[in-house]
Amino acid sequence: MSITRRHWMAGTAAMASAQTAAGKFVAVSSSNGLRACTKAMEMMRAGTDTLDAVIAGVNINEEDPEDDSVGYGGLPNEEGVVELDACVMHGPTRRAGSVASLRNIKTPSKIAKLVMEQTDHIMMVGEGALRFAKAYGFKEENLLTEKSRLAWLMWKRSLRDAGGHNNWTDGLDAPAGKPSAALRGMFPGIGEELLAYAWDRAQHPPTGTINCLGLNAKGEISGVTTTSGLAWKIPGRVGDSPIIGAGLYVDPDVGGAGSTGRGEENIRVAGAHTIVENMRHGMTPKDACLDALKRISRNYGDDLTRLSQFDINFYALRKDGAFAGASLWSGVYRRDQFRPRQFTCNDGGKSRLENCAFLYERKRP
Ligand code: GLY
Repeated sequence: MSITRRHWMAGTAAMASAQTAAGKFVAVSSSNGLRACTKAMEMMRAGTDTLDAVIAGVNINEEDPEDDSVGYGGLPNEEGVVELDACVMHGPTRRAGSVASLRNIKTPSKIAKLVMEQTDHIMMVGEGALRFAKAYGFKEENLLTEKSRLAWLMWKRSLRDAGGHNNWTDGLDAPAGKPSAALRGMFPGIGEELLAYAWDRAQHPPTGTINCLGLNAKGEISGVTTTSGLAWKIPGRVGDSPIIGAGLYVDPDVGGAGSTGRGEENIRVAGAHTIVENMRHGMTPKDACLDALKRISRNYGDDLTRLSQFDINFYALRKDGAFAGASLWSGVYRRDQFRPRQFTCNDGGKSRLENCAFLYERKRP
């Protein structure tokens, strides 16, 4: 389709309005980003650079052992080793940095920023990224918590071959009376709540992650995405979070976008870049996100049965302060309870959760 003058004018007008800095401070994040948005807003209001502010925000999650989708306490790969991915984009200087499959460092977002600032590269992975972090004084630490180790062990022990066997449960030669393969017997001494958590994680490997986008009153915008990736992944698996244009994209002339959820789907549509380009051509942040979700749906021929097996969420913040969050599905049913997909925002006052726009309504199973 050729671009008519009318289309071009519409896109240009929308871009011009997006270019008008509205004098607002805004932070947008995934549903686990209440503390991150609050921190980022405090720092931006105090004059801190937008990228430093959003990184400080997500550092709270990276260092929190209770957030099992990010940094320390993140759920590990199939060998029980935590591998982290992160990237940053700094709008004012149009620079980016990224790390993937980084082990033993709690705050991969800080290393991504170091890659951006202190190297002539954009992306570093694995052993090289770890050595780089250590060269800058970061200490190696064990990122596996007792809780995430238990969830991983539960997953290992729940696997079965065609004969119902698993080498990680008691052997064929075990004396009668030893703990059975039943869940309770596998983990004696573990409280019900922790057991339910570990079982839920073993059965529904999460693709958590935190994305945070920050805009200051000068119209400067930056973003960060950081994750421990898909739980129980094959070692070396890299998701969308450290991929510039997928897990995060910022264009200071337009705005920024980020993602959480199943990274494999996002990489195939370059989601964050797609959303920023959609906004550049005049779409609202909400429509821009929904369009990226439609592209994901299209990759499955809009087959709802296959699409129902995963979820993915997008967040967009336009340069004029307009923002949105949108998900493939309206929410999720867990233990018969419907939980809507939500995102965090702060455009003044307290950080709050809002329901995401969505492409498809999740039906009760
Ligand atoms: N979106 C996080 C991941 O898939 O690794």
